[in-house]
Order: sequence, then C-alpha cells, then structure tokens
Amino acid sequence: MTQHKMAPKKLSFFQRIRYSVFPGTQRPVKDPGGYRRFFNSLILHFRPRTVPDRTLQLTLSWGLGGMAVVLIFLLIGTGVLLKFIYEPFPGKAYDSILHLQRDILFGQLIRNIHHWSANLLLIVVFLHFLRVYFTGAFHPPRQFNWVIGLGLFFCVLLSNFTGYLLPWDQLAFWAVTICAGMLEYIPGVGLWLQKLIQGGPAVGPATLSNFYAIHTAILPALVIMLMPLHFWRVRKAGGLVIPGTPRKIKGTRGESVPAIPNLILREVVVALVLIAFILAFSVLFNAPLESKANPGLSPNPTKAPWYFVGIQEMLMHFHPLFSLFLIPILMMTALLSLPYIDYKNGTAGVWFASLTGRKMAVVAALTATVATPAGILADEYLIDFSTWADHVPPLISNGWIPFVIILAGIAGFYVLIKRKYDAKNNEAIQALFVLFLVAFLILTATGIWFRGPGMKLMLPF
Ligand code: HEM
Repeated sequence: MTQHKMAPKKLSFFQRIRYSVFPGTQRPVKDPGGYRRFFNSLILHFRPRTVPDRTLQLTLSWGLGGMAVVLIFLLIGTGVLLKFIYEPFPGKAYDSILHLQRDILFGQLIRNIHHWSANLLLIVVFLHFLRVYFTGAFHPPRQFNWVIGLGLFFCVLLSNFTGYLLPWDQLAFWAVTICAGMLEYIPGVGLWLQKLIQGGPAVGPATLSNFYAIHTAILPALVIMLMPLHFWRVRKAGGLVIPGTPRKIKGTRGESVPAIPNLILREVVVALVLIAFILAFSVLFNAPLESKANPGLSPNPTKAPWYFVGIQEMLMHFHPLFSLFLIPILMMTALLSLPYIDYKNGTAGVWFASLTGRKMAVVAALTATVATPAGILADEYLIDFSTWADHVPPLISNGWIPFVIILAGIAGFYVLIKRKYDAKNNEAIQALFVLFLVAFLILTATGIWFRGPGMKLMLPF
C-alpha cells in the first residue's frame, strides 16, 4: 500500500533552499498566503496567541516597555557598527571618534543614533517604571518581575555611564572622574572599589579598557539574559495588568482577541514611529563631543552625567557617607521591597490606586515642590550646622543632624497625610513615593540648570 496518491513534485534547487528557510510555505503548492502563515507562526513563537482586549488600551502601557525593547535593539545594532572604528586607548579613542564622524559614510549618523537612543532609553525605562508603579502592576503575581525590571534599569544606567567615558573628551573624562571619586566614601570597600573600577589610582588607560569591556560585552549580555526573563514573567502573569477604575477596582478580563493583528500591529506602529523619531532627531542634532580629555585641566563646573546629577546635588548638602551611600542604599532597599509589603487591598490596574490615592499624590508632589527648593536655599544661604558646635565632626554636623531632621519631617508628613485622608497602606506609601520622586527630580533639575561655575547656585539665564 502506498502512502502517496500522487508522486511528490520534483523540487528545483532554489525551491529546496526556499522551503528549508520558510518551511510550510509549499503546502498547498500554489498558496499565496504561504509566507504570511510562515511569518505568523514565527511571531507566535515570541508573542502570545491571544491577549485580553482591555490590555490593548494605549493609556495602560503607553507602549513604553516595547519602546525600550526597540531602543535596545537600535543600540546593539549601532554599537556593533561603532566597534569597527572605535579604539579603546586614551591616545586613540578621541581620534577614532573624529575619524568616524569625518571620514566614514554615515559615521556621524550612526554615532548620533547610538547616543540619542541611549539617552532616550533611560527616559523611557524611567517612565515605564513609573507607569508600572502607578498602575499597581507590581502587585502579585508580578512582584518578581518588578525586581527583574529594577535589574534591567540598573544595567541601562550602568551602560549609559560606561559608554559616557568612551569618546575620551573633556566632558567624559571629568564626569567619570567625579563619579569614581564619589566611590571612595563607601565605608570599608570604597577605596578598593574605586581602584577596581578605575583599574588604578586614577582614571586612565585601564579605566577606559575596563569600561569598554563592561559596556560592550558584560552589560549587553546581562540585558539580553534579563529581557527574555522579564517577558516570560509578563506571559506567566497572564499578560499585562487588567485596567480597572477607582470605582470598579477588579477589572474583568473581558474578551480575548488574537494577538495577530491586534497586538502586533500596535507594536509595529509604535516601533516605526519611534525609529522615525530617532532618525529625524539624529539627522538634526549631533551627539556632543568636546575637546580631547586633558587630565591636567578640569572644566568649571565639573558635573556628573545628567542622570547622576541628582546624587551630585545631594552631595552638596549631605556628608558623602549619607548622599552617596546610606540614602541610595535605603532607596534601593525600599524599591526592592515595595511589591513585598502586605497591602491587604489589591488595587492592581487602577491608576494611582484610588481617588484618595490621586489626591494624596498631588499633595505629596506639591509638598516636595515647596520643601525641596526651600531646603536647598536654606542649606546654601542660612543654615550651617558645623558653626553651631566647633568640635562636632562633619559626619554629625553635615550627616546625622540634617538626616534626622529630614527623616522626622518625612515621618511627620506620613502620619499627617495618612490621618487626614484616613488612607490605606498603599495610598500612604504611594504618597511617600511621590514625595521622594518629585524631590529627586527637583534635585536633578537644580544640578543641571541652576549650578554654575564653582557649583554655585545661579539662574540658568
Ligand atoms: C530595559 C528595561 C526594560 C524593558 C526592555 C522592559 C520591557 C517590558 C515590556 C515589553 C513589558 C510589557 C509591555 C509594557 O508594559 O509596556 C514590560 C512589563 C513590565 N515591566 Fe518592564 N521593562 C524594562 C524595565 C522595567 C522596570 C525598570 C520595571 C520596574 C521596576 C519593570 C517592571 C515591569 C512589570 C512589573 C511589567 C508587567 C506590567 C503589567 O503587567 O502591566 N520593567 N516590561
């Protein structure tokens, strides 16, 4: 008994190649939809078959996670191209960038795309982090994905920082010198860590080759490992959080619709708009490049990269042990623990948790908007704890005293606002989150725009 009614069609050499690349496209032999079927099945290896239609609302995710993915691919693509020209040695790095910009076809454009995508990625990931927090998408079963997300955030920050040094211009050299100098205040291991990262007692050839290896191998590898884990956890949680409203917290899952075309089409549109934007921006604006690094001449003022300026501004007001170590460690621990607090009432999917949560967030934002600049001005022009008692060490006058005062202020704010609004745990914690967030943004803005020569306060115009 024979299995085939018809003798199998004899395939040409090229058909054999085509069907091995696109399996399934030959059945039935004349099938105009063959390629579409092939690509759909390929996509479904990465994306879900169906998604709850309510999670497709743009106002839930704003496409921010997807944008981060697109930017990461753009960065890897342009980064690989840059590697063909860039030379990670202090005598050659700057000139190789000049050579890239002047003599290589599209060299300047490729550098611009890499530079602007990296900066935009930081902003996009930060906004994604805020949307996840404010829609309560970190509640069970998504707690661990929040932790993975923080890991990704850390990698993106470090990638930006290590890339910052590579052009070896004045901006890069001195910003990294400032940041590496901050490390020595970490108790116990600070000096050792500083030497390890610098590869010696000061920023030099070993620092450049360390940063180059971390930037082009270690961090991309980590990001490439963490990203699939992040997406897998989204799938395991049944997709994105289902949007709810303050009055109807537990949103029903609603209807499930096929991911192709409903989700994929939206993702492709977001990706294309983003790529068009980055391209246009990179054609119009060149990535900065100052004069070649001169270790003997520091610019005035010397500022950290913009995403670390908030920490540099804190350094102006607190003892380094507090601004560079204790406060960042406390903040990181708080962020990591956020999803593991017992909130009792789940409000996942509701922007700002509830109507009360919204009001409290506005009050917290206003409080920080008034208190942070007031604190900066008072510290700059009015208060100097070190003059109050002559023999008090700076760790106390510039560390413990302001720290305890601010801590007491924050605790007072928490108790007051919780009582006034008869708030639940998550609403009160969200208010604290907004308080810290706005304070940090104001510190960053102050450092970027309101600090001039000698890091003195000044108006930006
Ligand atoms: C390189 C950085 C990151 C990439 C590429 C990324 C990518 C994504 C994508 C594509 C999604 C699904 C779609 C969306 O929500 O837009 C997602 C969801 C999620 N992300 Fe991220 N993410 C990153 C960083 C973070 C950070 C910093 C956090 C928080 C600390 C975070 C926490 C989450 C959570 C909890 C979800 C599930 C949200 C939900 O179910 O609604 N991610 N991420």
